[in-house]
Amino acid sequence: MTLPSQNSGQDVGAPGASLLWQDGALTGKLVVGNWKMNGLAQDAKLLVQALLAKGAKTAEDGQLGHHGQGQILNGVRMAICPPFTLLSQVRDWLAGGAIALGAQDCHAEPAGAFTGNISAAMLADAGCQLCILGHSERRQAGETSVQIAAKLAAAHHNRLLPILCIGETLAQRQAGETLAVLADQLTNSLPFTLTGGNPPLVIAYEPVWAIGTGLTATLDQIAEVHQFLRQQTVGLGHVPLLYGGSVKASNAAEIMALGDVDGVLVGGASLNAEEFWQIALAAKVALAGGGLSTAAA
Ligand code: 13P
Repeated sequence: MTLPSQNSGQDVGAPGASLLWQDGALTGKLVVGNWKMNGLAQDAKLLVQALLAKGAKTAEDGQLGHHGQGQILNGVRMAICPPFTLLSQVRDWLAGGAIALGAQDCHAEPAGAFTGNISAAMLADAGCQLCILGHSERRQAGETSVQIAAKLAAAHHNRLLPILCIGETLAQRQAGETLAVLADQLTNSLPFTLTGGNPPLVIAYEPVWAIGTGLTATLDQIAEVHQFLRQQTVGLGHVPLLYGGSVKASNAAEIMALGDVDGVLVGGASLNAEEFWQIALAAKVALAGGGLSTAAA
């Protein structure tokens, strides 16, 4: 068995996410499904097939984006992040389509005695193009920003596009600490400074109190935070900013119409093909409505 090495000759910082990141940038809107700890093979296959069928139908209707360029709809990119056990199967089911495959976490080390963990090299080997990191459900279980920064470096080493999650708790928001908490999570979760270079990175703002609760942040709250994150990351070039937290078909378009929202990270609603597809359509509506971020030009 060949053991992966952290420096296995791959380009650091250049993601292999060909479906997502082209010409040094991610353009349009990005809709990512985080399945969390959900999905057995049979249901997962039906879900993926239903999504692919919707994409194929859209192609027949002539509304399809450039599948070869990774757009499921014009200007809209889509990715799904199943649990580890399903990655290889989902990769095969998705093969040749425009939906990218991602994972929900990785270990910082390339290989070794880390029982129960999965390395970034393994994810790349399984066909992943991106990896969610620092989700609040992991931070609440004890994961620190320092650990997340090491994972992010490992993701880059393996040409995975990291989606770094940050978000405040309800108590922190009520105490007026939201922006300070986010700034702290952001700076400490990155293996590089916010002022240099242009590493491929997506940031997802997910207020902890809005995750899985049915409570969505107000448009004003999302706009304020995304504007803040845009300012914070200006030294990195254009960093796509996603919103996550009870996103559904009925609120996705207005959220994605906000100027600094480049897409959404969807939990529960991504487990339903019709609902998730409607969110992709909402992304297209948001693009057409002119509420575009600079990346969508
Ligand atoms: P819900 O969409 O279920 O609120 O979950 C959001 C989330 O945590 C995505 O990572």
